[in-house]
Amino acid sequence: MQEYQYSAKFYDPLLAPFIRPIRHRIITVVKRYRYQSILDVCCGTGDQLKLLKAHGFDGEGIDISDAMLSVAEKGDKADCKHQDATEMQYKDASFDLTMTAFALHEKNHISARKIIEEMVRVTDENGDILIVDYELSKKTSALSKKLIYLIEWIAGGEHYQNFKDYIDRGGLPALLSGISLTEVKRYYFGQHGIVLLLLRKQKS
Ligand SMILES: C[S@@+](CC[C@H](N)C(=O)[O-])C[C@H]1O[C@@H](n2cnc3c(N)ncnc32)[C@H](O)[C@@H]1O
Repeated sequence: MQEYQYSAKFYDPLLAPFIRPIRHRIITVVKRYRYQSILDVCCGTGDQLKLLKAHGFDGEGIDISDAMLSVAEKGDKADCKHQDATEMQYKDASFDLTMTAFALHEKNHISARKIIEEMVRVTDENGDILIVDYELSKKTSALSKKLIYLIEWIAGGEHYQNFKDYIDRGGLPALLSGISLTEVKRYYFGQHGIVLLLLRKQKS
C-alpha cells in the first residue's frame, strides 16, 4: 500500500506531542485491566506497541502500509505484521484486548465497519475493545475542531473525504450501531475532540 509512503517518517515526530497523553492513558488502562494478549490494529509506526513494551507488556500489531511497518522495525522494534485489518488472519477469540487508534475515521464506512467486526471476532468473550478516534460535538473547542480539520485536510484525497463522511454520519456511535458491546469507560482528549472508548464484548 502506497499510503503513508512519504509521511511515515514524519508521523511520530509531528504527532507525538498531541498523541503522547493518549498513549499513556492506554498504558494506564492496560495496567488496570491486566490484559495478557494485546492486538493493535492499524498499528502504524508501532509507537503504542513500543510504549507497551517499555512498560513490560507484550503486544502485537498489524498494518497494511509497508512504509509505516518499516518505521515500526526501527529502534526498540515493535512486533507488527503486514495484514489487512478488514480480513485478519487470526482465529476467533485470540486476544483479550484489541485496540485501534486514529484509523477508523480515514476509512470508508464499509471498511471501517468491517475492521470493527473483525476486532470483535478476534477478541475473547468478555475481552475488551479499545478505540481512539475523533468525536466532534458541542463540547469540542473551536480550536480543536480547526486543528483536526486542518490535519485531515493536509492528509488530503480519499483520507479527507472519508474523514468528512465519518463526521457527517455521526462518528463512532454510527460505526458501532448494532454491534453488541458494553461501554466500560470513556476518556476525552484534545479539548473534547478525541475520545478513547473502552468496550466489552458480551457473551453471545
Ligand atoms: C493514522 S494511522 C494511525 C496509526 C496508529 N494506530 C497510531 O495510533 O498512530 C492509520 C493506520 O492505519 C493503517 N491502515 C489503513 N487501512 C488499513 C487496513 N485495511 N489494514 C491495516 N492497516 C490499515 C495505515 O497504514 C496507517 O498506518
